[in-house]
Amino acid sequence: MFRKPDLEILTTTLWEYPSQHYGSKMQGNQDYRGATPSYVIWNLLKRYTREGDTVLDPMCGSGTTIDVCADLKRKAIGFDLRPIRVDIQQADARFLPIKKETVDFVFMDPPYSTHLEYSDDTRCLGKLDTRDGSYYEAMEKVFGEMFRVLKDRRYVAVYVSDSFKKGKPFSAIGFELYARLSKLFRPVDIVAVVRHNKTLKRNHWHTSAVDGNYFLRGFNYLLIFKKEIGPKH
Ligand SMILES: C[S@@+](CC[C@H](N)C(=O)[O-])C[C@H]1O[C@@H](n2cnc3c(N)ncnc32)[C@H](O)[C@@H]1O
Repeated sequence: MFRKPDLEILTTTLWEYPSQHYGSKMQGNQDYRGATPSYVIWNLLKRYTREGDTVLDPMCGSGTTIDVCADLKRKAIGFDLRPIRVDIQQADARFLPIKKETVDFVFMDPPYSTHLEYSDDTRCLGKLDTRDGSYYEAMEKVFGEMFRVLKDRRYVAVYVSDSFKKGKPFSAIGFELYARLSKLFRPVDIVAVVRHNKTLKRNHWHTSAVDGNYFLRGFNYLLIFKKEIGPKH
């Protein structure tokens, strides 16, 4: 029988774990489209936060960040445009209803432009295109909010993938978001997280990628940055 390995702090820039969840319970919900593998958040919180710290996820989805925070005794604040749990508050990530410099860490797994459909809400970033720039413009606003609410000398991590759809131009979302985050924060590192998506192995995906001579997304970027505004006077 398959037994999940114990979690450990990963030390290279290539992360992989054979399950969406660790331990005997689920963190977040694997049926939520686009849910984040929980070991990614666990590793970030272990490195960049301490017990009692306040962790913000402005696009909380199925609440994976909240559940990992509970396991590690961090305080979680989760927002989403379309909250699906009572412990997630409703807000547009471009206008967060929290005071400046009040959180110790921000994790965010945003829509990767129009990659997945999340809701009918017209403010959903999953409706915005990379090619007309509207997606990047909106993401810059979200980054501005993350900068505003984060304490000085604390960290943010953004989990994102590039986007390719057959017949459409390739969008290097990881590079574009890295450049925009660099305007506000100091770059710390880039981790490649292996994607374990069983549907990618299904035959029609595989044969289309071979026949069409394109690649399926095999990794996500984890972009890690630090806020540094220097000494106060
Ligand atoms: C990739 S999912 C997040 C998955 C989540 N980390 C989890 O593990 O379940 C992206 C989320 O962004 C939310 N979203 C999209 N536009 C938003 C906006 N303007 N403000 C807040 N949330 C937004 C979507 O509703 C969706 O839940």
